[in-house]
Amino acid sequence: MIVEGKRIILGVTGSIAAYKAAAIASHLTQSGALVDVIMTDAAQRFVTPLTFQSLTGRPVYTSMWGGSGEGLGSHIAHVALGHEADLLLIAPATANTMARIANGLADDLLSVTALAARCPILIAPAMDVGMYGAPATQANIEILKTRGVRFAGPTIGRMASGLEGLGRFIDPEEIVGYARWVLGENGPLRGRKVVVTAGPTRESLDPVRFLSNRSSGRQGFALAQAAVDAGAEVVLIAGPVDLPTPVGVGRVKVETAREMEQAVLEHAVGGRPADALIMSAAVADYRPGEASGQKIKKSTGTLSAELVANPDILMSVASQKNRPAVVVGFAAESQELIANAQDKLDRKKLDLIVANDITATDAGFAVDTNRVHFVTGESVEELPLMSKEAVAARVIDWVSERLAAS
Ligand code: C5P
Repeated sequence: MIVEGKRIILGVTGSIAAYKAAAIASHLTQSGALVDVIMTDAAQRFVTPLTFQSLTGRPVYTSMWGGSGEGLGSHIAHVALGHEADLLLIAPATANTMARIANGLADDLLSVTALAARCPILIAPAMDVGMYGAPATQANIEILKTRGVRFAGPTIGRMASGLEGLGRFIDPEEIVGYARWVLGENGPLRGRKVVVTAGPTRESLDPVRFLSNRSSGRQGFALAQAAVDAGAEVVLIAGPVDLPTPVGVGRVKVETAREMEQAVLEHAVGGRPADALIMSAAVADYRPGEASGQKIKKSTGTLSAELVANPDILMSVASQKNRPAVVVGFAAESQELIANAQDKLDRKKLDLIVANDITATDAGFAVDTNRVHFVTGESVEELPLMSKEAVAARVIDWVSERLAAS
């Protein structure tokens, strides 16, 4: 993923949320980033450098003047660190650190690094509600924003003081999402709009019951994240699934196939048309002819409901003048995988169809892995078993290359 091989400086300051920075350091390191941690004096009152050293496997910087465990001896070397980094992430950031950076102070290692940094700066504030709302803090945030500094949070929630309010550090997972967003912004899909559909649709039988399917939405959400990693503007049209929206993604919630069709036509064809549409949603092919307004009563014997065909969303898109330059479909098949996929490719006028055999236990619905074939008009490529994230990255690579060539 986008974080792999990136050099990230993680600045940790003296907030009670400093311990949560350990989860960020761990996540980024496990994703393949080189994480250099700089701790302020106050941060070291809450957590020790050893925590971060153990998690990142790299020396932790605690002083401008070189200290115990320092890999580099002088602030000159730290300036170099700031020059080489892909991202300076300050999480958690106190009001004090933001004030120092906003005012160009350079009296400790983190502020020196921020002043000298040539990479994007991302700040995740964490502080008491009063300190966050203070006019001085807000003015400093404005200054930083006008200079291009990005912010991750804070959010409203319970504080260490027991008070509720705005100033709470957002979840480490979400901060990593922000980091991905910033790291990916100059990627191959920069300036491109990508619409992704995900999850099942739900068709009402009555106010209580519905018809749906086993789609988890994971593949579609992974595609949306991979498109953000590549720098795209992403709209994710999702059926009812309980998954967090990736940072940088605009999510449109739909329930029925007809609602999904409307949303796809609005976001992928109407207005500013999308450059690419990736339909990974498992759209219900049929819906009850007429949903009952009242709960259907139990009676003896059988109950039959008439089902009518839903619109085929890809077919509707295929007939539009402003259709996206690249359209990708998914095909879940239980027999004749390639022949059925090729037939869909033709009928739905697709550029690529990602076909998977749903009879395999390690691929398809509701598992973390997928085994797919890329079927185009010209070729069939069999990919090995891989995570849904890895499949998503491959699809996005394919889309990027196709768009670059068009
Ligand atoms: O025909 P089948 O449902 O197998 O085709 C799968 C592909 O078509 C998927 O990309 C799916 O999102 C899309 N589809 C659609 N509208 C439907 C049914 C499926 O766009 N009503």
